Amino acid sequence: MIRDYHEFLEEVMIDSAAIQRRIEALGAQISKDYAGEEIVLVCILRGGVLFLADLIRQISVPINIEFMSVSSYGVGARQSSGQPRITLDVNSDIRNRNVMLVEDIVDSGHTIKAVVDFLSTRQPKSLRVCTLLDKYERREVDIEVDYVGFQIPNKFVFGYGLDIDEYYRNLPFIGSVDLTRYMASE
Ligand code: IMP
Ligand code: MG
Repeated sequence: MIRDYHEFLEEVMIDSAAIQRRIEALGAQISKDYAGEEIVLVCILRGGVLFLADLIRQISVPINIEFMSVSSYGVGARQSSGQPRITLDVNSDIRNRNVMLVEDIVDSGHTIKAVVDFLSTRQPKSLRVCTLLDKYERREVDIEVDYVGFQIPNKFVFGYGLDIDEYYRNLPFIGSVDLTRYMASE
């Protein structure tokens, strides 16, 4: 049975109002940086959907949306293994267009690097990365992240698109997991 998150919530790391304020600022920055241009925003499923939905409402230049899915196989389901595989590709031609990847979190960086390498062969006009969360201490690959909502410490987080075993994506805030209590109640 799915557990009440209060059993293992360590703290609300970023509340709903703070998320929305930050996205407003990111949207304003992006609109300024791309003035006179159009952007194809490529949301990485599934974690990026809430962020995409809120971000696009704060962008004033013309945008298209596309979706991609990346699965990690190998060790452990809760964190990526460093062997990402593209399981859903974009639906339109990105050649000579400004592309921006929209991610929930960049952790080791393997996922976003796989997507960047995959799309860059199609000669987009530009290719940038926008992530809500950056767990920079865990980075394992050299990857440039152009827009960051929040840099966060090395803790497992959930809510606002991020899951624990596919649940809790619908929570409006980002919370950290108290691992001791999580294990104890499992
Ligand atoms: P990376 O390939 O290590 O950068 O991992 C990125 C992916 O791992 C994200 O798109 C998330 O799906 C997942 N992930 C990494 N850290 C967390 C977390 O703290 N909570 C939930 N999912 C996470
Ligand atoms: Mg993700």
